[in-house]
Amino acid sequence: MHDLGKAELDAVAEVLANPILTTGEWVARFEQRFADYLGVRNAVALTSCTGALHLSLIALGIGPGDEVITTPMTFIATATAIIEAGAKPVFVDVEPETGNLDVLRIEAAITERTRAIVPVHLYGQMCDMRALRELADRYGLHIFEDAAHCVEGARDGVKTGQLGNTACYSFYATKNLTCGEGGAAVTNDDALAERLRLLRLHGMNKNANDRHREGYQHWDMPVLGWKYNMDNIQAALLLPQMDRLDDNWQERRELAQQYEARLWDIPDLSRPKTLPGVEHAWHLFPVWIGAGRRDEVIERMQKAGISVMVNYRAIHRLTYFRDTFGFKTGDFPNAELIGDNTLSLPFYPNMPLEHVDCVIETLRDILS
Ligand SMILES: Cc1ncc(COP(=O)(O)O)c(C=O)c1O
Repeated sequence: MHDLGKAELDAVAEVLANPILTTGEWVARFEQRFADYLGVRNAVALTSCTGALHLSLIALGIGPGDEVITTPMTFIATATAIIEAGAKPVFVDVEPETGNLDVLRIEAAITERTRAIVPVHLYGQMCDMRALRELADRYGLHIFEDAAHCVEGARDGVKTGQLGNTACYSFYATKNLTCGEGGAAVTNDDALAERLRLLRLHGMNKNANDRHREGYQHWDMPVLGWKYNMDNIQAALLLPQMDRLDDNWQERRELAQQYEARLWDIPDLSRPKTLPGVEHAWHLFPVWIGAGRRDEVIERMQKAGISVMVNYRAIHRLTYFRDTFGFKTGDFPNAELIGDNTLSLPFYPNMPLEHVDCVIETLRDILS
């Protein structure tokens, strides 16, 4: 549930009073603000996290014949971006206690075709980026972090984007920072950032804002690019939210504590573990329902007027992945178990405590 209001309306009105609606000054301001927040050198604002992952792969020359290691416990976009780049997604099973890519299983999946690893910081808990970077460096691999769930989080003193070649973010409607649809890639590599900027706008070496500022000049297209540039309206929606980011994070952290204090004794219910050294971003609040009762719980919660979601069913069992790559049930048992049991509870800043109580009592009634 978004909390956009007057500050965002005012920011958009300011853009509309100016001639440049597309990529320009507001986008540059958002990029600076976002990069500063994460403590990285560059942010490149885009139209989605899917686009950010796709461009990251292409910018580093990954394509047909290459393999990219990732997790089956994610939204489909993590893997479809790899496929759109022309490469093959190679799934590795997840840690049973967190749902994150299991670093210890990766080495066995590396072949001479492997070029990159795409970890997903699931629900807002960061993967072990120090261990991943060490492994990737040992094999000469790139890392593109899918940080769609993890803007605010950290682990062992590292934030997202600081150790990956890029980290990719989503500003989709359900995210903590949103402009309806939007995304970004961040990187400490200045040359890579330049390449991402070129690739996000058809491969053109001048954009509309340059032409407006400097008067018409001929432009060139040195490389084939895509159309993934964020516009000023989207950036204006995001900028005021940066002021509230940490306060909203604190509210979600408190909400998570309220939930945890109430649900620990409900039968057949468990939770992902937050590991030592992790500062959780608290994007989602999933519970894991045992005894094969997850779908019954969904139905009964919805009948009681409580909206719940599933993040996610293990994606290798979806039709396209089974048909295209031959995956089957049993290939990634930890991801399958989580995917069969997981249920995300309502979770947003300012969620009234009576609603938390109502969600918990409904769950307890169903499961007791
Ligand atoms: C883990 C993960 N990766 C990627 C995406 C794709 O983000 P976008 O919709 O911005 O392309 C999402 C969106 O929900 C996501 O949750």
